Amino acid sequence: MGFSRDYFSSDFLHNLLHKHNLMIFGLYGIIGFILLSIVIFCTLFVYEHFFWTNKIKDVRKKHVVVTGGSSGIGKCMAILAAKKGANVTIIARNVENLEKAKHEILQACENKDTQRVEYLSLDIGDYETVEKALADLENDMGPIYMLVNCAGLAIAGKIEDTTPKSLDIMMRTNFLGTYYCIKAVTPRMKASKEGVIVLVSSQGGLLGIFGYTAYCSTKFALRGLAESLAMELQPYNISVTLCLPPDTDTPGYAIEELSKPIETKAISQMANLVQPEVVAEKAFKDALARNFFSALGLEGFIMTTLCAGMSPVKSYRQLFVQVLLMGPLRFIGIVYLFIFQRIIAQCKQYTNSENIKKVK
Ligand SMILES: *[C@@H]1O[C@H](CO)[C@@H](O)[C@H](O)[C@H]1NC(C)=O
Ligand SMILES: *[C@@H]1O[C@H](CO)[C@@H](O)[C@H](O)[C@H]1NC(C)=O
Repeated sequence: MGFSRDYFSSDFLHNLLHKHNLMIFGLYGIIGFILLSIVIFCTLFVYEHFFWTNKIKDVRKKHVVVTGGSSGIGKCMAILAAKKGANVTIIARNVENLEKAKHEILQACENKDTQRVEYLSLDIGDYETVEKALADLENDMGPIYMLVNCAGLAIAGKIEDTTPKSLDIMMRTNFLGTYYCIKAVTPRMKASKEGVIVLVSSQGGLLGIFGYTAYCSTKFALRGLAESLAMELQPYNISVTLCLPPDTDTPGYAIEELSKPIETKAISQMANLVQPEVVAEKAFKDALARNFFSALGLEGFIMTTLCAGMSPVKSYRQLFVQVLLMGPLRFIGIVYLFIFQRIIAQCKQYTNSENIKKVK
């Protein structure tokens, strides 16, 4: 008896046990928290999957307009709309490209006899022109149900190498063009109490990247536009979707490659180049499901969860995941930023040594 009392009253053991208890307590706490989270997530999933009536929208027999529709993601979106039975109008500037794309989209039509595919050669950088052209288009082709804003371009370069002209053309096409088209169609969409608006931003619309001071600015602007629009148009039964594609294998991307500083190339090589069909398919699905963000894969999930901020939320499940993961994902985000900084430092060292060689 005396032995065991001595044994347990030893300060050392007492402390150890105390610590041990705390550790076990902490461990149970963490396990409990994770289990509880899983249970809540599953409950929400079951509830929303089976009892939530989320009507998926349909473009059959509706008029779908796609800007930047003669190539890349835009053309793929137009093809998807044609496959789903919509009347499609593509907008771009180059008539030759439009003709070619129109032919391709016609081939994709679900029913070639009843569907119409047209094109409009238009510079979306001037509001008066856009307003008149879209009003005329609706008179001819019927009210626009879905507007997909894909027109955009990227010119990369360090800030000192970014000419005011390239800044201007990106601002005009990526941001103003999108704003103008949306502004021109919303009054009629509001009146008809239905509609879908898609804005094609970029992953660079959620984080700034070396060499993209101008490009990222225009793509960030689209997020502000999309969030404000979503709030304004929600009472009118019009959904807004912001598409955030990673680097996509399009004709535009090939041109952009030419202007990229080595830092930008090195950073963008960390992610895969995706095909425009894949981006378009996801964007189309998300738009018809009224999701606010449309992003691809795990990377897209991390980005949109981390950067959810004040964006509209789709479901309790999504809200729960965001509340739970935003903090921890911040840590992953910081690791990425750290890697980017290392890449940039290495590139600077490399260019310095190249310059020294040149001088010699
Ligand atoms: C689509 O085009 C067909 C054929 O021209 C037309 O009959 C139909 O009304 C159009 N639908 C809409 C919604 O404009
Ligand atoms: C909302 O729009 C969808 C089509 O996008 C339509 O089916 C539905 O009837 C509309 N709801 C209301 C309340 O107008």
